[in-house]
Order: sequence, then C-alpha cells, then structure tokens
Amino acid sequence: MAAILNQQAPVTLYDLHPPLEDFRTEVLQGLSQPQKTLSPKFLYDKTGSELFDAICELDEYYLTRTEMAILQTNAAEIATFIGDGVLVEFGSGSSQKVRLLLDAMPHLETYVALDISKQHLYESCVQLVGAYEGLEAIAICTDYTQPLHLPEIPPLKGKRKVGFFPGSSIGNLEPTDVIQFLKNAAMILEPQGDFLIGVDLKKDKVILEPAYDDAKGVSAAFALNVLTRINRELNANFNLQNFSYKAFYNPIGRIEMYIVSLIEQEVQIGDASISFQAGEHIRTEHSYKYSTVEFQDLAAMAGFQTKCVWTDPDQLFSLHYLHSVA
Ligand code: AVI
Repeated sequence: MAAILNQQAPVTLYDLHPPLEDFRTEVLQGLSQPQKTLSPKFLYDKTGSELFDAICELDEYYLTRTEMAILQTNAAEIATFIGDGVLVEFGSGSSQKVRLLLDAMPHLETYVALDISKQHLYESCVQLVGAYEGLEAIAICTDYTQPLHLPEIPPLKGKRKVGFFPGSSIGNLEPTDVIQFLKNAAMILEPQGDFLIGVDLKKDKVILEPAYDDAKGVSAAFALNVLTRINRELNANFNLQNFSYKAFYNPIGRIEMYIVSLIEQEVQIGDASISFQAGEHIRTEHSYKYSTVEFQDLAAMAGFQTKCVWTDPDQLFSLHYLHSVA
C-alpha cells in the first residue's frame, strides 16, 4: 500500500488516489464515445462533495432522511449484527450516517473510511474521532469500486470486518458491475465479512424525478460542476452557459442524468478538441432502483446471503444486512 501521508493518531491517511493522467485519459475517452459519458466518480471534487451534501438536505431528495430514519429506528438491532467487527465504510463522504451506528456502538474501536475525495475524507474522519472517544479512524483515499487490499496493520489484521455502503450509491453502478463490486468488497472484508448496504426502492416517477431535478437547481449545479472541474484541472474551456442538465426515470428501473449541449460547439481540453451537436447529451449518472427481491438476487450472485432487510413504513428505501458465504 502507498505511503502514509499523515500519521496524526487517531486518524491515519493513506493516499491511493489515481494520478491526474488517469483523469485526463478517462475524460477524453468518455467524451470520444458515440454516447458521451463522464464517470460519476468525477463529480466529487471539493465543490461537488459540498453540492452533494446540499442535495441530501433537499425536500425532494427523500433518500438521505429516510435511510437515516431506518438506521435510527433499528440501530440497536443492527449493532448486535455488527458485534465487535471493524466498520469499513465505502464512499464515506461526510461520515454522517455512520454516527447513527457509532451512537449505538460506543465500544467500537476501529473505523475505516474509503473515499475518492481526499480533503473531505480526511476532515470528516478528524471530526468523527473528535466526537467519539476511543475511536481510531483509518482514511483511505481511493476509487473504492476497484479491487483493494486493506493495509496489514494491527487494528485490522485478523479482525472481523463489516462493510457499510449507505446512500444507495450501489445504484450508481450498472447491475453487472454491482456483482463485481460486491465480489471485490467480499475480498476486502474477508474472510466471510458482512456488508450493510442501503438500496433505494422502486417507486412512482412522481416521487423519483423531482429527487433528481429539484426546484432550487442543486442537482443541476452538482452535475455541471464536473465541467468546471475539467476546466480547472485539465485546462479546458467549457462555457457553462452553453450546457444544461436533464434527469428522467427510465421504466427499466433507473434515473438517467445528463448534461445537454445547448448549441453546436467545440470545446478544448488541453490540446484535444471535442465537438458537440446542439442537443447532444453527456451521460453523468444512472441511479438504479431495485425491489428488495431484485437486490437480494444480485447479492446472491456475488456470494452474499441476506441476513436481514429493514425498510421504512412508506417502503421508499431499504437497508440490507448481508453475509459473505463465498
Ligand atoms: C450518490 N448517489 C447515491 C446519488 C443518487 O441518488 O444516485 C447521486 C446523485 N446524483 C444526483 N443526485 C443524487
């Protein structure tokens, strides 16, 4: 594992962030395909992470508050499942939801946070250890969708691990990638780790679509911020006035999110040039919605057995406790 950047106990930061060249290569590749695409992982620079936190506060975005209510209501029972395991959060963001679990597990010693946004990750872990006495945090800046081995350090070696992947971020993966992701996670959590995952449920598009295209325009700002990031980091000249945002529910079971070019235009990214037709779409995200059974079937294909599923009274959101049997 790469060099430890900062060892200011009780937060240890490992920086495995992919180099800038990967960002440039992936952006140019994505924008050269017939369906132009920008990976959702690029949405989360510092501003993007802050905008996503703002989305989570929106009235229309029911996911966060509903999942938090499920966690709160069932925290004691979930804590008995977790027992003395090490908690490993995938895509920890601002580490807010894990607090609901930590409140119910005052003796938990070790928390591992995996996230792509280094600054946000580190600051959140510092705040967390400040709030929970006796807690040690290990922050790993990484693309957590890729295979990874946790560092072989005393707080982790030989300990039972419980993954935590809230927020229905699993819905941002294509269903085939979900299976690969769960298999990778099983390796990170081995041997025979557990995994607590939040999954948004299928529902009417009257509820779904405003959650992804809100009245205040925060979802739009979140998506369009990726162009500002490309301008800054890759010396590009996207004019944001010439792009808009669009989100809709595709009845195959997913919200689709796009940046739309309002005019025919040519954009420079470093020394590369990318042309856009008027009305051309750049795909930024898919957000899949599953029934409880659909998700259990996917998990089973990756070698996970469902131990328990919690939902809210309105059946908006689900929380699955899985055990790896592979
Ligand atoms: C992170 N993820 C679960 C969000 C979602 O609901 O799919 C990402 C998002 N994009 C726009 N709004 C929310």
